[in-house]
Amino acid sequence: MNDFPCTVLRCGILHGAYHRIVFHAPHVTTEAKPGQFVHVRIGEALDHILRRPFSICDADAATGELTLVFKVVGAGTERLAQMKPGDSCCILGPLGTSYTMPDENMFPVIAAGGYGSASTLFLAKKSPRPGILFLGARTESDFILIDEYKALGWRVETATNDGSSGFKGVVTELMETKKDAFPAGTMVYGCGPAPMLYALAKTTAKLGLKCEVSMDQRMGCGVGACFACVIKVVDKSSPDGWRYSRSCKEGVVYPAEEVYCG
Ligand SMILES: Cc1cc2nc3c(=O)[nH]c(=O)nc-3n(C[C@H](O)[C@H](O)[C@H](O)COP(=O)(O)OP(=O)(O)OC[C@H]3O[C@@H](n4cnc5c(N)ncnc54)[C@H](O)[C@@H]3O)c2cc1C
Ligand code: FES
Repeated sequence: MNDFPCTVLRCGILHGAYHRIVFHAPHVTTEAKPGQFVHVRIGEALDHILRRPFSICDADAATGELTLVFKVVGAGTERLAQMKPGDSCCILGPLGTSYTMPDENMFPVIAAGGYGSASTLFLAKKSPRPGILFLGARTESDFILIDEYKALGWRVETATNDGSSGFKGVVTELMETKKDAFPAGTMVYGCGPAPMLYALAKTTAKLGLKCEVSMDQRMGCGVGACFACVIKVVDKSSPDGWRYSRSCKEGVVYPAEEVYCG
């Protein structure tokens, strides 16, 4: 894990509030694995002194190009969205655990919501075979990167709360209606809002599917020193059946059965 100033190569709006930014970050791209994240020091002003974590959307070891896709939600992401080619910021990473990569005998299924489909695109690219992306959103215009998954040969199934695209409901309900789509050897990868991931852990357990989830929490240090990012994980030796886990260090990717769903 290293921390170096990285130059912006390209940046721009992807769709709506989502932006795509490409850095020259060879210290990240040579080691990056799908599911890992970087911690970006966006500026020197007081409100940006804390770094902001972003999933690795793509990492090209040959060119050193690191791609992040992010939604503008506050001051840090607003500032990142304003960066221009030639600007630079320090990028710490790659950090955290990674997804278990599918092999030829596994059938990959991704369940994503929010910016989750950006995080799992790197996995889809590296997978030896295409699978199915189950994508959930409030409404159709919230979807991102569908064409990128289709270009990789992935089948895309959508669920929206308002019924504007695909199934009307949430992504885990959609998955339950598609039980026949999961052959032996299916491995499910989840990234999205916490309630979706807890529901996914329960649904995959019910369907008997192996699953890993990316438990993205608000972070401080990003390297295991501050405990800002803890989640509850199953611990059978504890009287309560759970313990705290620093998601930046022991995660952010966890086997779904290790996440304590209460
Ligand atoms: C491991 C990890 C990977 C991430 N990957 C991506 C990514 O690929 N693309 C992307 O758009 N975002 C990603 N995020 C979320 C991103 O880090 C935050 O949106 C960002 O830090 C917000 O910074 P800000 O200064 O713009 O907003 P702030 O002013 O810090 O926050 C604005 C709002 O966003 C909420 N918020 C901030 N961080 C989080 C979080 N982690 N979870 C839920 N709500 C949050 C705050 O509660 C607040 O309501 C990731 C987070 C983690 C932990
Ligand atoms: S963010 Fe500091 S311990 Fe995880």
